[in-house]
Amino acid sequence: MILVTGGAGFIGSHTCVELLDAGYEIAIIDNFSNSRPDVLDKIRTITGKDFKFYEADLLDRDKVELIFKENKIDSVIHFAGFKAVGESVSIPLKYYHNNITSTLILCETMAKYGCKKIVFSSSATVYGDPATVPIKEDFPLSTTNPYGATKHMIERILTDLYVSDNEWSIALLRYFNPIGAHESGLIGENPNGIPNNLVPYIARVAVGTLDVLNVFGDDYNTHDGTGVRDYIHVVDLSKGHVKAVEKVSKSTGVEAYNLGTGTGYSVLDVVKAYEKASGKKINYKITDRRPGDIAMCYADPAKSLNELGWKAEFDLERMCKDSWNFTVKNS
Ligand code: UD1
Repeated sequence: MILVTGGAGFIGSHTCVELLDAGYEIAIIDNFSNSRPDVLDKIRTITGKDFKFYEADLLDRDKVELIFKENKIDSVIHFAGFKAVGESVSIPLKYYHNNITSTLILCETMAKYGCKKIVFSSSATVYGDPATVPIKEDFPLSTTNPYGATKHMIERILTDLYVSDNEWSIALLRYFNPIGAHESGLIGENPNGIPNNLVPYIARVAVGTLDVLNVFGDDYNTHDGTGVRDYIHVVDLSKGHVKAVEKVSKSTGVEAYNLGTGTGYSVLDVVKAYEKASGKKINYKITDRRPGDIAMCYADPAKSLNELGWKAEFDLERMCKDSWNFTVKNS
């Protein structure tokens, strides 16, 4: 059985669907800090399969231990964590305490029960402002905010764990910019309050709950001056987790993998693609750069193809179409 922490969240829920479809038995632990209980039934509806669920906080060591006592957990996919960059700058201790301590409790419990296979939800944020693009896994790591620092530190903790005990098998998945939604429109990304990220914000402008998109700067050194990112369909990303679970089950070691498409699109490219997918006009205005943003970030996904046998399949048009379908059904 696979334990999925944060399995009710955006990427977690889509990954649970792919795991169940691939025939895995799973248990989910989630405290709904940034998700909703109805997601669980939606995963059941999409897959026609059931799973175990624990409503608990990973900081609750006794609850975590209970899961390992009650089930034979073979491997863990660890999504749970706070992820808002701006909030992490204002409340760093909350981020360090939650993201780091929960991972320590999880790994200590895994070690106690002899489960040494983990897939970790990391981020391309660990590359900081890369000197060149496309980004390869061996590029130097640096971070500029507490959220990113927790991802970097957890990668380091897991690496040290492997060095101390070579029976561990660890995949560090560095996500680029996950967007889109399941084609059913049942699960997707629906942040509380005003979205921080581009596509959820555009979706609200398209559906009419927000008036205008602020484009953060048009003076970057990119083809149209706006920031370039590697947007990846969340279903493709989720399939990468299934491949990573297969990989950690049959080998030991610690390896980082980029999960991106290898193609960069600018903010205005995404606006155009979303207008086409939704048939709606996206009003936007150019504003100042957002502090901490970089000009360009996109992956070299060759290692993931060579070692995991994974590559992204869906294009930007499909990402926008699925995001719009989810938005219409859930607004
Ligand atoms: C952000 C985080 C990153 C995190 C990722 C998770 C920052 C600085 N980085 O990535 O650490 O791993 O989310 O999803 O927050 N944009 C606008 N207007 C908006 C929102 C965004 O123009 O209202 C632009 C940004 O300047 C950027 C692009 O859209 O060029 C993508 O932004 P966003 O979706 O927030 O993702 P990242 O900043 O790449």
